[in-house]
Amino acid sequence: MSRPTVLVARAVFPEAIARLRRHFEVEPNDDDTEYTHAELMRRLRGKGGLLATAGEPIDAAMLAAHPQLRAICLMTVGYNNVDVAAATRQGVVVTNAPGVLTETTADLGFALMMAAARRMSEAERFLRSGRWTKWRYDLLVGSEVHGATLGILGMGRIGQAIARRGAAGFGMRVIYHNRHRLPPAVEAPLGARWVDKATLLAESDHLVLVLPYTPQNRHAIGAAELAAMKPTATLTNVARGGIVDDAALAAALRERRIAAAGLDVFEDEPQVHPALLALPNVVLLPHIGSATEATRRRMVGVAVDNLVAALTGGAPPTPVNPEVLPLLRA
Ligand code: 8YV
Repeated sequence: MSRPTVLVARAVFPEAIARLRRHFEVEPNDDDTEYTHAELMRRLRGKGGLLATAGEPIDAAMLAAHPQLRAICLMTVGYNNVDVAAATRQGVVVTNAPGVLTETTADLGFALMMAAARRMSEAERFLRSGRWTKWRYDLLVGSEVHGATLGILGMGRIGQAIARRGAAGFGMRVIYHNRHRLPPAVEAPLGARWVDKATLLAESDHLVLVLPYTPQNRHAIGAAELAAMKPTATLTNVARGGIVDDAALAAALRERRIAAAGLDVFEDEPQVHPALLALPNVVLLPHIGSATEATRRRMVGVAVDNLVAALTGGAPPTPVNPEVLPLLRA
């Protein structure tokens, strides 16, 4: 029997390609070209598997055009770029990479929240531009992190890891909102209390967004939600662009209706809303939440594990739609 052929949509660590080559004919993308929809359509022809990131839109039309495709394995935890319902209907397993990036992304989320609260980017720009000529009692004063109220919207793995940092390391009072309240045994060690969304917005000194992107939570934070926050509050987004209405956020920051923001993700990334770029009170990062070498190696490793299992009759460790697995093995 001929070996399955797989497409790797973006450049990855060479060790991942080497592992895939032990099982499959592999088409890598060493130049890291960002394939257009049409190009991805063309390259998927005849492929049994795809290793991708959260950046390649894989829609129903793409799935329908490739009935031979069996597995889409993402090296990311987010999978909002894949039409999972269409994949399931077609018997294609979709896998993601949960768990391996939790602590790394929580580190970045906490750092970004602190950077926004303590005006670190603004302060560095001030220093580098030669404006630091003397100490002053109110020079670049920010807001407290320790002892403040940390609000978390979305309380999955990463939300819980951020809560742990806030409660244990910084003595913060932690409140959260999530569709499902955590069991008391999970809440207790985090010192976290479930509140409704209105209370979360009203009481958070530092609100951190860590919910997955779905069409229902597009603009979960828009003008009305920003208006419900404290004028001294900060907002940090390490989840997905689109959860925040970037134009509304820029207006709120400009008018100081909230104090500051920290953003690792954007509505139209890598484009950043020009109004955000012009503001001093927002820390802007180029989607680096999971960007440590060890974590990125683990992420691609999980995708390879899944792809190998899916196409060689094994059990992919982290399927998003496990209901298709019996079909895959049939
Ligand atoms: C990726 C992420 O770096 O895992 C995710 O869902 O957001 C990040 O870890 C990013 O999605 C790359 O496309």
